[in-house]
Amino acid sequence: MEFSIKSISPGQTRSGCAVVGVFESRKFSPAAAALDRATKGYLSTITGRGDMDGKLGTTLLLHSVPKIASDRVLLVGLGSEAEFRDRQYREAIAAAIKTLNTTGAAEATLHLTELGSVKRDIKWRVAHAVAVALEVAYRFERMKSKAEGTPSALRRLTLGAGDKTALRAATAGLEQGLAIAHGVSLARDLGNLPSNVCTPAYLADQARELARRYRMKVTVLEREDMEKLGMGALLSVAHGSAQPPKLIVLEHHGGAKAHKPVVLVGKGITFDTGGISLKPGAEMDEMKFDMCGAASVLGTLKAAGEMRLPLNVVGIIPTTENMPGGRATKPGDIVTTMSGQTVEILNTDAEGRLILCDALTYAERYQPAAVIDIATLTGACVIALGHVASGLFANDDALAGEVLAAGATAYDRAWQMPLWEDYQEQLKSNFGDFANIGGRPAGSVTAACFLARFTKKFKWAHLDIAGTAWKSGKEKGATGRPVPLLTHFLLKRSKKG
Ligand code: BES
Ligand code: MN
Ligand code: ZN
Repeated sequence: MEFSIKSISPGQTRSGCAVVGVFESRKFSPAAAALDRATKGYLSTITGRGDMDGKLGTTLLLHSVPKIASDRVLLVGLGSEAEFRDRQYREAIAAAIKTLNTTGAAEATLHLTELGSVKRDIKWRVAHAVAVALEVAYRFERMKSKAEGTPSALRRLTLGAGDKTALRAATAGLEQGLAIAHGVSLARDLGNLPSNVCTPAYLADQARELARRYRMKVTVLEREDMEKLGMGALLSVAHGSAQPPKLIVLEHHGGAKAHKPVVLVGKGITFDTGGISLKPGAEMDEMKFDMCGAASVLGTLKAAGEMRLPLNVVGIIPTTENMPGGRATKPGDIVTTMSGQTVEILNTDAEGRLILCDALTYAERYQPAAVIDIATLTGACVIALGHVASGLFANDDALAGEVLAAGATAYDRAWQMPLWEDYQEQLKSNFGDFANIGGRPAGSVTAACFLARFTKKFKWAHLDIAGTAWKSGKEKGATGRPVPLLTHFLLKRSKKG
């Protein structure tokens, strides 16, 4: 889909479809009111008959509306104007795009971007309109032998910017929205690919491709390299697998040389069977999504590259399968991590923390300004927060605040959970320095507590995305979260936000 920005009046400019909003109690948005005047009250007649009552997310498509230059008009219900916020704005845009996709219009002009009622500036409104439009239009058909259904005719979307003074900010919003959407789309593709295609080696190739395209630096550590570094925890997870593990490092040098980088560490388990502590069979296919943390790191770096973000960013991806087998790690095995601390592996299904802990120790060499790890880490996080918020843990309150704020701006929200010392005792081990599980109570907190033992040397935040990285059921598929949150975090740090 192509996007452009124009400051136009909906009556006079020709379009395949002019998209305008109607609030509850049939109150017109400014663009709808302008169209109503141009058509001498045609729209009021329609709403007066009760065919569009402004309920949020409803749409009404009108053909051959008299006295205007556009082929079609799409009325979109906006709900109550007093309650019109981020969520409602995004839902209205999504509803509009879904309906447009069923029409023959190749081009449409979206006037919803002019809605000041949402209390966000034009840059935000345009960025989110672009991101939502591309999110709705997303299809994953790479693994189908032939295309299904009829492709949508919609090729071009013109976004209304209100007056001319808004054009610059709107253009910046367009650029930002596109970069985020492209990052999200990459993360979704990687998540949706099956584990027989998306292997650790495949992820490494993706990183190399990003490095080539955006002039980044890429390094891929092989098993022998990790052995030399003493990454006993990461390697222990790879023992049962026929696929060689990798540690991928992708560096975006957008800032001054002296500037310390933000380091993003993504869990890259390309399939999680649980290992010897085998998972039950139901829905095990969804464990191909256990590399969505890694995918979000690659997606965010793509967005950073596309925006030429003036900031140094390092992505670190420990990646392997977690498989049972004759060489696999067994419950009770004790491994020595790169940090020198020993871990008693009481459950081989708590493998995410094992690959992350060595990657976090490896991050020390970048003297990071901050480290954020992103992981589909615990089923317990899904129980705690469902599919709405990602779980946030941090050893620094200012950093936690930045992450929460970025999530709010991106509409990709996180919720902070405690990381108190009191929980650490659940990780006690009789044989090693500590265990890799802490029992059923507060499962996502003890997982974070485990990681906290490897992050003492820098400011660190941990995002548990087990509930937000993908959807189950009929709409099964990766969401691309938290690429929007991470990108906004980086934008703000680069002062381009
Ligand atoms: N990848 C899973 C976490 C997960 C489970 C995410 C279900 C989304 C849905 C992780 O590796 C795991 O298996 N965690 C265990 C930890 C437990 C053994 C302490 C879990 O959450 O059950
Ligand atoms: Mn697991
Ligand atoms: Zn896992």
